[in-house]
Amino acid sequence: MPQTQPQPLDLARGCPLAQPEPYARLRSEAPVSPVRLPDGGTGWLVTSFRDVTAALAHPQVSAQRHFQTSVNSVTLTPEEYLASGFGTSFIGMDPPEHTRYRRLLTGQFTVRRLKSLAPSIERIVDECLDALEAAGPPADLVTDFAQPVPSQVICALFGMPYRDSALFQERSHVIFRMERGKEELLDAMTGMADDMRALVRKKRESPDTSLLSGLIEAVPEDGTPLTDDELVAVGNLMMIAGYETTANVIGLGVLALMSFRSQWETLREQPELVDRAVEEILRYTTVGPFCLPRTAKADLELGGQQIRAGDPLLLATESANWDPAQFPRPEEFDVTRRPKRHVAFAYGLHQCLGQELARMEMRIAFGKLVRRFPELSLTVPADQVPMRTDMQIYGAHTLPVTW
Ligand code: HEM
Repeated sequence: MPQTQPQPLDLARGCPLAQPEPYARLRSEAPVSPVRLPDGGTGWLVTSFRDVTAALAHPQVSAQRHFQTSVNSVTLTPEEYLASGFGTSFIGMDPPEHTRYRRLLTGQFTVRRLKSLAPSIERIVDECLDALEAAGPPADLVTDFAQPVPSQVICALFGMPYRDSALFQERSHVIFRMERGKEELLDAMTGMADDMRALVRKKRESPDTSLLSGLIEAVPEDGTPLTDDELVAVGNLMMIAGYETTANVIGLGVLALMSFRSQWETLREQPELVDRAVEEILRYTTVGPFCLPRTAKADLELGGQQIRAGDPLLLATESANWDPAQFPRPEEFDVTRRPKRHVAFAYGLHQCLGQELARMEMRIAFGKLVRRFPELSLTVPADQVPMRTDMQIYGAHTLPVTW
């Protein structure tokens, strides 16, 4: 029986790796259910794999974000957002505007570029493991490994000096924190945009093999190359999208492997399982914003519910990845699981552009971690790990480890 009364969005978790409590019940009883949004409006929470993928592929579902899925201490006006250098982010666009950027970017994420990045990623991971070893035991795996690896990989992708990665990490942290003042937020955003603008200028003067140089030189089908403003917005989106996500999947992946010790032991004994382990970590943790925000462009039907044009849709990819209709025993973390299509990188037109880079990075990171620190363990019980319930992307704030 479809549920009709909007319920408050309850995303509290019983323990660090558990999913928000209402998801399991909603998936079986009301996979598309009315929900009260943090800003007071109403929308639809979509929790089943079938309905989440249907919505992500639906031509009448827009990626434009006119509402918020989390309670932030400040919200920027559209003018402030535009002025911050993040304004023209194609993650929130629909075709044909989205198609222009997407094609240009897809042309840059070539197998050749990924292959050429592999040696740099290997080196970055080795150096971060050296730093972790030098820092402990005990040491914080988040500060010494999960964060610096992806931030340095992004720098390598963009041809940005490594020394700039610490400042970038700090700014990104401010942007994703829920409690921050307007001035602090704008400072972080414009600071990132200014640095990106300077980098664009540098690459225009001396092009190299980086993705940013590739984007500068790429000519879209309409024949008009990207302007500096567009390059800054695309650059900022990629830096932000590629760093926080990967860092938190690495952190949560280690937390899962430590919490289910037998899975760490399996990976240690059969390191060739690392590809499967990475897919399972992605599925099990499904790091991202609380739900993917979408808006119905026209009246439509989803999961037996009548959705009206303009209604917000909150697509809970996290819940979809624990749907027993798609994954047998979904709440079991199993690094030997045969990979099956999951939605940790979403689905449809906005499916993650950096997913192959992220996969490569995580395979190298987990593969080397398990070989270098086979006796790795947490120094505190898993339920005492400080979690990022105050951030817009979930994960662990710190992971105290020993070996
Ligand atoms: C494990 C790491 C990652 C996860 C879990 C992840 C997840 C996602 C998800 C769920 C989306 C879809 C958002 C939506 O539809 O609203 C997305 C989009 C995107 N991601 Fe990733 N991502 C990861 C790593 C990366 C990396 C490394 C990059 C690039 C360096 C990247 C670049 C992008 C871009 C540019 C988009 C927007 C695509 C579009 O709108 O067409 N991501 N990502």
